[in-house]
Amino acid sequence: MQHDAGTPGVTPGASSTTVAAVLPGEPRRNAVVCSGLTYRFGAHTAVDHVDLRIEQGETFGLLGPNGAGKTTTIRMLTTLLRPMEGSVSVLGIDAASQPMRVRRMIGYVPQLLSADATLTGRENVELFARLFDVPRRARRDQVEGALAAMGLTEAAGRQVKTYSGGMIRRLELAQALVNSPRLLVLDEPTVGLDPLARTDVWEFIAKLRETADMTVLMTTHYMDEADTYCDRVALMHRGSIRATGTPGLLKAMLGDNATLDDVFRHYTGGTLDEDTETGGIRDVRRARRTARRLG
Ligand SMILES: Nc1ncnc2c1ncn2[C@@H]1O[C@H](COP(=O)(O)OP(=O)(O)OP(=O)(O)O)[C@@H](O)[C@H]1O
Ligand SMILES: [Mg+2]
Repeated sequence: MQHDAGTPGVTPGASSTTVAAVLPGEPRRNAVVCSGLTYRFGAHTAVDHVDLRIEQGETFGLLGPNGAGKTTTIRMLTTLLRPMEGSVSVLGIDAASQPMRVRRMIGYVPQLLSADATLTGRENVELFARLFDVPRRARRDQVEGALAAMGLTEAAGRQVKTYSGGMIRRLELAQALVNSPRLLVLDEPTVGLDPLARTDVWEFIAKLRETADMTVLMTTHYMDEADTYCDRVALMHRGSIRATGTPGLLKAMLGDNATLDDVFRHYTGGTLDEDTETGGIRDVRRARRTARRLG
């Protein structure tokens, strides 16, 4: 679904730009509302008074360099971390006070791989169906439906350690879809995949978006993906949101031939900083752990 570009408006404050989306027809309900959302790790403020509104039915991209605070924001939204200040609600339900209700409405593909390599694809999805309280009677249909939606019916009986990277990511999407979520949260869904596998994953997500009335919140470091698939994006840097808007309008605000890469650089400084290096080390450790587990 594409929104009208709307009229750009600069919010008060030195470095935050908000581009209002003017929606056709009736106003939509908010799928996600973050107000003053804040999280600190010790003295380090990872998420710093974030205000964010994602409308139902949108595909929304949270963009920013390593260490910007994207995953920490998502972990508060998915109830895995409790906000230290401010609040986040999903479809009108407060995540801190009613975490179980929020969890039931969310499908989450984490940044780290979450499939068990020693189980079959089908067993992994069944595990999630049980975790997410899919009623026993509906479970079989939901599991097969999720596997089919991600093109994994034929491979479903094989152990995951025989899957390619792209198939594993699609399996994790099937896991996230098994409880028919209203909000699908994808933290770097295509990281580490080759260009063909990336396109493949996105085609499955796009097909899904056509058939299900679902809101999608995603992070990615691939600006081409954000440009193609997101209705709106937010640029996050050092814990705060620096700009929000449609990719088209954010690009237009920088100049005629600006790309989303230019937008990213403009709002995030485009330089490596200490956090980036920390993020790199963390990512390498994660990749090694994952490789050990899957190998
Ligand atoms: N468990 C933790 N303990 C201490 N600091 C953490 C922890 N998790 C994240 N941080 C720090 O919080 C900041 C935000 O991290 P976060 O993982 O949210 O960033 P991100 O935008 O998701 O980055 P990436 O693009 O690398 O995934 C970083 O400075 C990071 O080092
Ligand atoms: Mg992250």
